[in-house]
Amino acid sequence: MNKKRVFSGVQPTGNLHLGNYLGAIKNFVDLQNKFECIYCVVDLHAITNHHNPKELKSNILETIATFIASGLSEEKNIIFNQASVSAHSELAWIFNCVARIGWMNRMTQFKEKAGVNKENASVGLLVYPNLMAADILIYKATHVPVGEDQKQHLELTRDIAKKFNNDFKCEDFFPIVEPVIPKEISRIMSLRDGKKKMSKSEESDYSRINLKDDKDLINQKIQKAKTDNGPVPSDLNELKNRPEVSNIISIYANINNIKVSQVLSEFGGKNFSTFKSKLSESLIEKICPIGQEIKKLLKDEVYLNGILEKGAKRADLIAKTNIKEIYKILGLTKYS
Ligand code: AMP
Ligand code: TRP
Repeated sequence: MNKKRVFSGVQPTGNLHLGNYLGAIKNFVDLQNKFECIYCVVDLHAITNHHNPKELKSNILETIATFIASGLSEEKNIIFNQASVSAHSELAWIFNCVARIGWMNRMTQFKEKAGVNKENASVGLLVYPNLMAADILIYKATHVPVGEDQKQHLELTRDIAKKFNNDFKCEDFFPIVEPVIPKEISRIMSLRDGKKKMSKSEESDYSRINLKDDKDLINQKIQKAKTDNGPVPSDLNELKNRPEVSNIISIYANINNIKVSQVLSEFGGKNFSTFKSKLSESLIEKICPIGQEIKKLLKDEVYLNGILEKGAKRADLIAKTNIKEIYKILGLTKYS
């Protein structure tokens, strides 16, 4: 049996939002006291789409600042950026040769990101899930905390691990990873449309709460959040077909670490303006200190770069040992 090891990655898009926090980063913080955890800023994933090199550099630092401001310890966890550890790319190439083209074509994220002009998408965008599988398996990680949108990529990671173990007759070499997806709220939806996930790419800033938003902006965004004409429901069944209402109720439950049923018994029958005031209060209490800390940390680039440097050394030590073993299994030799 493999020892439990947690790995997760976040793209350096800058300006992380409540979906990233509740869907992933809050979970990272909970796991750090229970397991050995490796958290990575996946900068090589960020170049699969057009990007601006200057912005990428500052977004990497901002993602690290967000990790630390959210409560991740740089000592307890290995925190680093993907480009610093070359074994990620080496294993991704190997997985390009293990995974099948048909598997890639089925990925919904590829279809969404490539849009109508699939032929014009980068090859990197198509094989993105192989790099993601390499990120995880180069450390033989067993548990991966992510939002629900990444579930399909983790299933693919399992398929790659099984095929590799099977093709090269090395049973149990790569573990079959378990996703760790928050139960109560696996997907935070847009505040403007409860059927779309909260995302950095949605045009309206009113669709999301950014971790750096100040008190007034959070208040305004919540006051404007879409609801419907009914009161706050008292019963779980009444949440059906009310996606915007379900979303803000789940956000309240998650940010306060309580169950949705508790929210319904507290607010059921009341009007939304009462509920929204309480939701804003909770968000301001939890999110604003993180935003303020991010802004403070961003002024200290030396400190942030130091975290990346130390983390890269620790990660590289594990990755190098594993890539050598992988090459050996494949009949390849790494002389240096
Ligand atoms: P990304 O910024 O796409 O690299 O996402 C980083 C992490 O945040 C991943 O684990 C995603 O699954 C998670 N995430 C992003 N958007 C949302 C959302 N709207 N709801 C829940 N989780 C999310
Ligand atoms: N694909 C993930 C996302 O878009 C980011 C990611 C890259 C990741 N490598 C990973 C997440 C490894 C978990 C584990 O959110």
